[in-house]
Amino acid sequence: MEHEFWHTRWEKQEIGFHEGTVNQYLHDHWRELSGRPGETVFVPLCGKAHDMWWLHDQGHRVIGVELSEIACKDFFEEADTKATVKPGQPFTRFIHDELELWCGDFFQLVPEDLQHVRLAYDRAALIALPPHMRPEYVQHLNAILPDQAAILLITLDYQNDEMRGPPFNVSDAEVMALYGHDWQVEHVLTNLLPKDHPFAKRKGLSGATESVFKLRRRPDSD
Ligand SMILES: C[S@@+](CC[C@H](N)C(=O)[O-])C[C@H]1O[C@@H](n2cnc3c(N)ncnc32)[C@H](O)[C@@H]1O
Repeated sequence: MEHEFWHTRWEKQEIGFHEGTVNQYLHDHWRELSGRPGETVFVPLCGKAHDMWWLHDQGHRVIGVELSEIACKDFFEEADTKATVKPGQPFTRFIHDELELWCGDFFQLVPEDLQHVRLAYDRAALIALPPHMRPEYVQHLNAILPDQAAILLITLDYQNDEMRGPPFNVSDAEVMALYGHDWQVEHVLTNLLPKDHPFAKRKGLSGATESVFKLRRRPDSD
């Protein structure tokens, strides 16, 4: 989507994607992936997700990247926490303790920015992007994440003709097509959201599914 689209969503507070609590799949499946506390977790297109406080509480350093300054400010203010702000280009950094929100465009990140990152968490980032942007998003992740990186990925799928995203529908097959070459893709679970689930109801869907994946960088990938 265009940057303007997201800036408008934040200005109008049309942020139905914001869960306001820790994501259940993150809570249930992070430990299987996370290795050691203290490792740095990268959160692309992070919004003001509480998940980042949760990851921080697990002992991780966290780097989130988010386009909207409103989201970055609200993230700290809503937790009654003061962040140190370091204005800069291409990112203004909001820093509190071991938690940093980098305000700017994900596609401006370079490998040096994330050289200490071993873990990433994608909830509502891949599925926020229209089909034509997803290969570019994955290519950029491939370029900026170091070898040995692992990702916890959460996706959403529904019948394509029932709704216009975001959130967009991303099938398990598409996850394989996007990541399968450079990442070992482990499908953890698929959860059915029936027609009367609040999300499906709100969006007028006949149902939807959420899938969780663990992705591990193939040793021989570029
Ligand atoms: C659907 S929201 C998900 C936010 C968060 N992951 C969550 O679970 O609540 C997608 C977010 O990505 C941000 N975004 C979109 N394009 C971006 C880009 N190119 N760089 C950084 N952030 C971006 C939007 O402002 C929005 O907050």
